[in-house]
Amino acid sequence: MIQVYREKDYESLSRRAANIISAQVILKPASVLGLATGSTPEGIYRQLVSWYQKNDLSFRQVRTVNLDEYVGMSAQDDNSYRYYMNHHLFSHINIDLQNTRVPNGLATDLQAECTDYDANIRALGGIDLQLLGLGGNGHIGFNEPATAFTKSTHVVDLCESTIEANARFFASAADVPRQALTMGIGSIMKARHVLLVASGDAKANALYRTFCEPVSAQMPGSILQFHPNVTVIADEAALRELDAAGVSIGEG
Ligand code: F6R
Repeated sequence: MIQVYREKDYESLSRRAANIISAQVILKPASVLGLATGSTPEGIYRQLVSWYQKNDLSFRQVRTVNLDEYVGMSAQDDNSYRYYMNHHLFSHINIDLQNTRVPNGLATDLQAECTDYDANIRALGGIDLQLLGLGGNGHIGFNEPATAFTKSTHVVDLCESTIEANARFFASAADVPRQALTMGIGSIMKARHVLLVASGDAKANALYRTFCEPVSAQMPGSILQFHPNVTVIADEAALRELDAAGVSIGEG
């Protein structure tokens, strides 16, 4: 089932998503949260930090697993996703860093790191709530178009379009790593609840193709049409193509 929340702008989208994450943590303090990086979740993390600072939320028992990490990047590199998570969320809340996991892009044996990553998710009892952004090319995590839907955590070669999209964080596109470790579509589909956030015009086409066209490996996120519990939070700009086509996908 897909439930869609239509929000007027990025700020209300961020607040709505933070509300859902905080409800999860309040109802189950030892929740396992699957987390995402990128521009879209920044406002969500800001909101969660602010509620934590007001004593409205505690992360003491929460465990987290992140979607992905660049290969070859250390936690100290400010473009690594471990750095991002510490900077935007973990350093500001009462989470035990031992309970947070981001794939290790410096692992000497990347395959062993992937196997261990999946074993860790299983040992935690699976993911209660998985936060996802959506790539302009339809990727979720770093599962690029034409990836097998069954995959667990694995090493990927990033698409040119993803390298270009992420170049904004680096000095130039040449500096963007060419490989990443990512949870697979199979891992994401096992999460008990998926929360996908999409903001802005640049996501309008991907959002339309993900939820309104037949499921296809060319749009990896489209597999979510088969997930039993998906919440989509999108702003007006991201919903533009759905609106133009007169399609409604479960607005509540
Ligand atoms: C990030 C991730 C990516 C992003 C996607 C959207 O951990 O896995 O799939 O969610 O590229 O990124 P933004 O939010 O920067 O548009």
